Amino acid sequence: MYSEKVMDHFKNPRNVGEIENASGVGTVGNAKCGDIMRIFLDIDESGIIQDVKFKTFGCGAAVATSSMATELVKGKTVQEALQVTNKAVMEALDGLPPVKVHCSLLAEEAIHAALWDYAEKNGIKIAGLEKPKNDISEEEEEEDY
Ligand code: FES
Repeated sequence: MYSEKVMDHFKNPRNVGEIENASGVGTVGNAKCGDIMRIFLDIDESGIIQDVKFKTFGCGAAVATSSMATELVKGKTVQEALQVTNKAVMEALDGLPPVKVHCSLLAEEAIHAALWDYAEKNGIKIAGLEKPKNDISEEEEEEDY
C-alpha cells in the first residue's frame, strides 16, 4: 500500500537530526494521532536554506514525508520553500494512502512553522506565510475526509 519511495524514505530517512543555533525551528503536532514533527532550518544571509534537519516522533508516513520535505527545501530560497506543499511532498513520494494524507500536512506545517520562527527572529515578514498552527488536528476537522 506504500510506494517504494515512501518505504525508502521511511527506512533511510534523509536529514535526521538537529541544527544547533538554527535560523528557524518549527514544531507541529497532531493531537489526534499524537505525532510530532520538528524541523530545523539553517538559512544564510541571502535567504537560502543551506541546511535542514528533522526529528519526527510519529508514524512511518510522517517520517517519510518529513524526510522528503527536507530534501525538497534544501538549497531553496525561503520563497521557494513556501511552495513545498503537502501535495508536492506526496507527489514526490509517488502518493500516500488517503488515511495518511494528514501526515504530509504535518511536514508542510512544520516547515512553515520553522520559516515563521526565522522571520520572527529576524524581524522580517515572509509574503504569503501565515502563522502556523501548533496542532493541525483542528484544521483536519474542518476538512472532509
Ligand atoms: Fe498521524 Fe501519521 S498517523 S502523522
